[in-house]
Amino acid sequence: MSANRSERVSPTAYATGYLWYRHGLSDKALVTPQGKRLDRAFRGFIAATRLLSGISLDAMMLARHKGIDAVLMRAIDAGEVTQVIEIAAGLSARGWRMRQRYGDRITYIETDLPAMAATKRTLLENARLLGPRHQVRVLDALANEGPTSLAAIAATLDPKQGTAIITEGLMNYLAPAQANSVWQRIAHTLKQFPHGVYLADVYFAPEQRSAAMLAFGAILQVFVRGRMHVHFDTPKDARERMTHDGFKKAQVHRTRDIPATQAISKTSGADRVSVLEARM
Ligand SMILES: C[S@@+](CC[C@H](N)C(=O)[O-])C[C@H]1O[C@@H](n2cnc3c(N)ncnc32)[C@H](O)[C@@H]1O
Repeated sequence: MSANRSERVSPTAYATGYLWYRHGLSDKALVTPQGKRLDRAFRGFIAATRLLSGISLDAMMLARHKGIDAVLMRAIDAGEVTQVIEIAAGLSARGWRMRQRYGDRITYIETDLPAMAATKRTLLENARLLGPRHQVRVLDALANEGPTSLAAIAATLDPKQGTAIITEGLMNYLAPAQANSVWQRIAHTLKQFPHGVYLADVYFAPEQRSAAMLAFGAILQVFVRGRMHVHFDTPKDARERMTHDGFKKAQVHRTRDIPATQAISKTSGADRVSVLEARM
């Protein structure tokens, strides 16, 4: 994905940002007029999809968001993680919610491409929500080196503390070779910490083949003017790819197996996303 193509993905973050707010997972500080407008536009499609196929795209999004939260909180509660870098955080309020829950027990670095990072920094600064333990930084997931690379951001953290890296809603915009390079960079970075946990939403091709899921993918592709990619056919493929890309082990959590998403996993749509957890 070129830099130009990367920037085209950014507006999707306005829509998801408002979706999280609509479902009580965000603060009004992160609400934008663009997000509200885009969410309204998408909502018609979401309602039609539900009517025609029974699949709830809202449930899918909520399951992915809450599922990642739950697995992250498990690692924090276990004392394995005190530092988080969220790549492509967009307008997600996870950083805010985790800081509310854990206070100074964690350091949360939210990152995104320059324009989105600037927007988010302004919104959080205006609400006085930033500080040394909650920052917004520019990070290009595709940069191998330089000040906006993952390596540079990770170098600002304490190498003695367990660290999590999250990507949510990013990897499907990347072509397979680019996705691999991002996973390799994340694995390489996490090696430096005593505990290293990578979390992401993950999808499997056979579960995306319904008319509703294909239509959703098609709409997103028009919106970002580029292709979407489903990287795996099975959980085994995902686990193998993670170990191939440098992680020591990996697990796929189905939403029905995560206590926090068990209830929602019964809604069609929420069962078509899983949480990938790869560790060093
Ligand atoms: C679908 S949004 C997801 C935002 C957020 N994670 C959420 O779930 O609400 C995708 C995000 O990926 C960011 N993005 C796209 N290409 C990127 C890259 N190369 N490096 C970092 N972020 C990128 C976009 O700016 C956008 O914020």
